[in-house]
Amino acid sequence: MRTQIAIIGAGPSGLLLGQLLHNAGIDNVIIERRSAAYVLGRIRAGVLEEGTVRLLREAGAGARMDAEGIVHAGVQLAFGGISRRVDLGAHANGRTVLVYGQTEMTRDLMEAREAAGALTLYEVDDTQIHGADSAHPALTFTLNGQRERLECDYIAGCDGFRGISRSTIPDSIRREYEKVYPFGWLGLLSDTAPVSHEIVYGAHDRGFSLCSMRSMTRSRYYIEVPLDEKVDDWSDDRFWDELRRRLPEPYASELVTGPSLEKSIAGLRSFVVEPMQYGRLFLVGDAAHIVPPTGAKGLNLAASDVNYLYRILLKVYREKREDLLLKYSSLCLDRIWKAERFSWWMTSMLHRLSDNPFDHRIQLAELDYFTGSTEGLQTIARNYVGLPYAAVD
Ligand code: FAD
Ligand code: PHB
Repeated sequence: MRTQIAIIGAGPSGLLLGQLLHNAGIDNVIIERRSAAYVLGRIRAGVLEEGTVRLLREAGAGARMDAEGIVHAGVQLAFGGISRRVDLGAHANGRTVLVYGQTEMTRDLMEAREAAGALTLYEVDDTQIHGADSAHPALTFTLNGQRERLECDYIAGCDGFRGISRSTIPDSIRREYEKVYPFGWLGLLSDTAPVSHEIVYGAHDRGFSLCSMRSMTRSRYYIEVPLDEKVDDWSDDRFWDELRRRLPEPYASELVTGPSLEKSIAGLRSFVVEPMQYGRLFLVGDAAHIVPPTGAKGLNLAASDVNYLYRILLKVYREKREDLLLKYSSLCLDRIWKAERFSWWMTSMLHRLSDNPFDHRIQLAELDYFTGSTEGLQTIARNYVGLPYAAVD
């Protein structure tokens, strides 16, 4: 088999890149380790920056998002028994975010790809990368018991944090930066009306909480838990009681509870690899970086990498601008490190960092300062809606 771009991974990065390239007439094949149903069963992010929204439209997969996504012009920060609103529009030049689940975005991209007749091979095993630093890179993998070879011009490693692409970059070149947090998020999805029409991030001496949603009838809630906690120890009732205790009024008494559709624990991590390119291999999304979800940046950073790689490849194929390939890593990393900073800061400001009450009082002072001053609100709002993309030229 031969294609122009071989894409490893059919998560949001791989599907979005594949669809943009396909529409631009650049041939690509996606290979994915899991089944399509498995990929769609993962409940993950829910907040899209405007840049991500524009890319989805550009990929021709934005119709349902435009019809069903919910525009959010503000978020709430709850602490010390009160809740303060960050008016995103007012403090970030009229920009907003869109609440639309990663699962839905993935489904829309899968459907657009199928309708376009572009090839995705699911349930492949033992993917290997060959000749990443040569003029003739290729992938080999097992499909239906047969070993296959896919030759290509370039490889996009969109295979997530646990993929194989990152380790293809030799140790002598690869630098990894990591911070693992001593707590995780226990998430619960339920068909109940959200407690607030805006997302609520809460700091409490019992720990962080987050009230989000997928629609006006489906809620997504999270509470901070110690890393060694087991989901099975959390009945729905125990979850709802703990969440209620961490929320200020009127949210606590207005919380609508119901049976969970899904419950899971995710650890929190900050991670960046440099560089994000090795020869003809390009790392995209979670393959190259992880942020703790507190800033809602994971999926949006994946989309911004896609933006850069897509625009570079367009110029490579249309204008023979191979020189731009060497700029991919630094274009991405500039934005990534700033989102890493924001996500780390939001995490540090809102979680229970220690048993020392001093730390909690410092957090309350910081929250009061940032939500009580124009410059503080601007800092939160401008980062939350997403920093601008740099031009590719
Ligand atoms: P992924 O979505 O990880 O996709 C990678 C794909 O590659 C997968 O489908 C995988 O099966 C496939 N793959 C891996 N190895 C191979 C291989 N060898 N061969 C072929 N295919 C392979 N972000 C937020 O903003 N908010 C959140 O609330 C949030 N919650 C999250 C919860 C969890 C449990 C996780 C793991 C992530 C969460 N994120 C969240 C982050 C966000 O979901 C990711 O940033 C986003 O999924 C990145 O997309 P991606 O396509 O780069 O990677
Ligand atoms: C979500 O809706 O799942 C969500 C929202 C905001 C975040 C993280 C997750 O910061």
